[in-house]
Amino acid sequence: MPTPIKVRFNGPYLVDLSQGGIELTDHEGNPIPLPAGKTNVALCRCGASVTKPFCDGTHSRIGFNAAEAAQRLVDRTGSTAPPRG
Ligand code: FES
Repeated sequence: MPTPIKVRFNGPYLVDLSQGGIELTDHEGNPIPLPAGKTNVALCRCGASVTKPFCDGTHSRIGFNAAEAAQRLVDRTGSTAPPRG
């Protein structure tokens, strides 16, 4: 069975490890250890985590808008700037 990966709304990629393991490597193919004992792992999608490639919750503090949300904002307002107020 394939490993499920869920794209969280304006958040990380949530990898479900309950169906089996994954191998995570850096750009040179070196293994990146996964957190022990977890049934899922969140991979940063916003680029602001200080624990990359893992999500550390920074996306919430910076008001990360995922591409799909950013596109809806552009479609609605013509701007990529978050609404004020
Ligand atoms: S997606 Fe959570 S810190 Fe980047």
